[in-house]
Amino acid sequence: MTERRILVTSALPYANGHIHLGHLVEYLQTDIWVRFQKLLGRRCVYVCADDTHGTAIMIRARQEGRTEEALIADMQAAHIRDFAAFDIEFDHYGSTHSPANRELCAIFWDGLLKAGLVSEREVTQLYDPVAGTFLADRFVKGTCPRCKSKDQYGDSCEKCHSTYAPTDLIDPVSTISGATPEVRAANHLFINTEQMRPFLVEWTQTADHLYPDVAKWLDAAFLSEPLRDWDVSRPAPYFGFEIPGAPGQYWYVWFDAPIGYVAATKEWCARTGEEFADWWRSDKTDVHHFIGKDITYFHTLFWPVMLKAAGFNLPRMVHIHGFLTVNGEKMSKSKGTFVRAATYLEHLDPACLRYYYASKLTPKLDDLDMNLEEFAAKVNSDLVGKVVNLASRTARFVEGTGLAAKYPDDGGLFAHAAAAASEIAAAYEACDYNRAMRLVMALADRANKYVEDREPWNLRKKAESAAELQAVCTVALNLFRQLVVYLAPVLPRLARQTGELLNRPIRRWDEAQTPLAGTKVNRFERLMDRIEADRVKAMIESSREDAPTAPSQQPTTAASAPAAPAAADGPDALAAEPLAGTISFDEFAKADLRVARVVAAEEVPKSKKLLRLTLSLGGDERRNVFAGIKEAYTPEQLVGRLVICVANLAPRKMTFGMSEGMVVAAGPGGSEIYLLSPDPGAVPGQRIH
Ligand code: MSP
Ligand code: ZN
Repeated sequence: MTERRILVTSALPYANGHIHLGHLVEYLQTDIWVRFQKLLGRRCVYVCADDTHGTAIMIRARQEGRTEEALIADMQAAHIRDFAAFDIEFDHYGSTHSPANRELCAIFWDGLLKAGLVSEREVTQLYDPVAGTFLADRFVKGTCPRCKSKDQYGDSCEKCHSTYAPTDLIDPVSTISGATPEVRAANHLFINTEQMRPFLVEWTQTADHLYPDVAKWLDAAFLSEPLRDWDVSRPAPYFGFEIPGAPGQYWYVWFDAPIGYVAATKEWCARTGEEFADWWRSDKTDVHHFIGKDITYFHTLFWPVMLKAAGFNLPRMVHIHGFLTVNGEKMSKSKGTFVRAATYLEHLDPACLRYYYASKLTPKLDDLDMNLEEFAAKVNSDLVGKVVNLASRTARFVEGTGLAAKYPDDGGLFAHAAAAASEIAAAYEACDYNRAMRLVMALADRANKYVEDREPWNLRKKAESAAELQAVCTVALNLFRQLVVYLAPVLPRLARQTGELLNRPIRRWDEAQTPLAGTKVNRFERLMDRIEADRVKAMIESSREDAPTAPSQQPTTAASAPAAPAAADGPDALAAEPLAGTISFDEFAKADLRVARVVAAEEVPKSKKLLRLTLSLGGDERRNVFAGIKEAYTPEQLVGRLVICVANLAPRKMTFGMSEGMVVAAGPGGSEIYLLSPDPGAVPGQRIH
């Protein structure tokens, strides 16, 4: 009988943003499960990749004035760095923008075509004439056609929860350029999922691939009525793979993203000499997906259909987790609770987050709350106070002698904890880490009671107690090591350090079954520090992004001086900046001033003054401009409006990138800056004479 193989994936993070504490719920949940499988000696491989395609990446690359390839390469490097720092260990980390993925997409496509599941028809969609692209639903905002709430996205209304087509929105606006979208038609390709209903019903409802709640939800929300065709293509321009045989049409990002799981496995196989078919076309392999609840239906309806049609393994299990909240609320940039992985690392030890999330995770879809006070308290009392404490209070006393040659009588403590192994293992296996952590901490309580009763620090003072001291420390360190074996999936660094301390690396789960005796004890090095409240505070402070300045914060405007409108026009400003010397018309004419539209605006991180603007001068002419107007305008106020731009100013290299022009404004600076704009009727590109 061949050994079973386990292939594990986490959802592929989007390449248009950095890893944050919310993502880490998933990657830590998965990493812990994988480490547990490996510790048991099972054959388990963990793959992931960056999800790189789609309109959002295309737009962002444009805004940053570089290629999509350059953007996704930087982001992938940042993701890999963050994951590694949290000890999230992939066997392979790929990218959906890879030759392997392109090839596999074609194979899946072929399978779908052969199964007769693909059809083509025309779709009318909103098109942004300024940005030159069709608009995905979330790039359109407007008034809800049902309840008339303003500022709603193109697919659904947050106020009345109705769903609709973006073409139904009243007064739609492109969020990319601020332009009014046009309705345009293009051909799209669809997958007929209704045809696969019998398979889907069977797969989702009868075998335990899903949590019961998920199966019920799919049944109620989707399977109870005819399944809609899935639109899997997007017309050019689109950053993705062009569909073979369909020029100008690209696979929608959600088509090629899950295939990225397969492509990453294929690359791993090529690297390690494994047989690809063993991993995706074999009944000896169990595929386990870990995902967040927001992407459930892609993984439980469309993806199984694609796998089935193309003859790949269906997932053995889709593990689904809830969303992270911080202090009981959605993560928030203005409250500083939207914390990037990299920011966390500047302030705190990754092991603390690994343990805290583990203590919270259950196999349920419930959201998981990170209460920052509880976070510090739990890490301090459990890890520092109960686990590490066992070693820090005893290891130094046996640095010279090592552990006793024979494991002493401990009143059955070690045997009791050894017997708990299967219960703890079952909890890990079921993704009930909360239970696993509680079981381990109960054992830690017993071990601590032993140390407190035997008081090694007092034994140390009497020469005649040397043997007893060694015995007590031998027991304590073995109980400690046993806990660390059980915690090894969660705390790999602690496991490594413990291996070094006791001269025996921790490699297998069953190492908790036999105590060490007669081994050397190395110099004790600090294993973990308490979390101080000010570290957490500092992390929140450096994550806080200031809310846009409200105009009313400037007391000089209307609110405080309503009775004095334009009366004092002029003299003060003139005094502050006297008139310049005369120039000729020709000198003036050298400056090429143009009407331009702000098609994108964003804050420059770490800069108090600068906003990065993307200006359209009409046609394809774009300019990336850094303007010192952050204290006076928010990006939202700017996108879509017309400004005057000095179009022939020599480009200037700034810390944040190249500035290719300048927008014209009046005012002394700071929050008193007033951009100029033409009267209605002017269009981008027109010259100012
Ligand atoms: N690119 C898609 C997944 C494609 S899989 C073929 C995606 N990317 S994501 O970056 O938005 O999210 C990656 C994973 O992190 C998802 O499973 C998502 O549910 C999870 N999380 C993102 N934010 C989260 C929280 N705030 N809390 C918990 N998990 C979260 O979706
Ligand atoms: Zn509404």
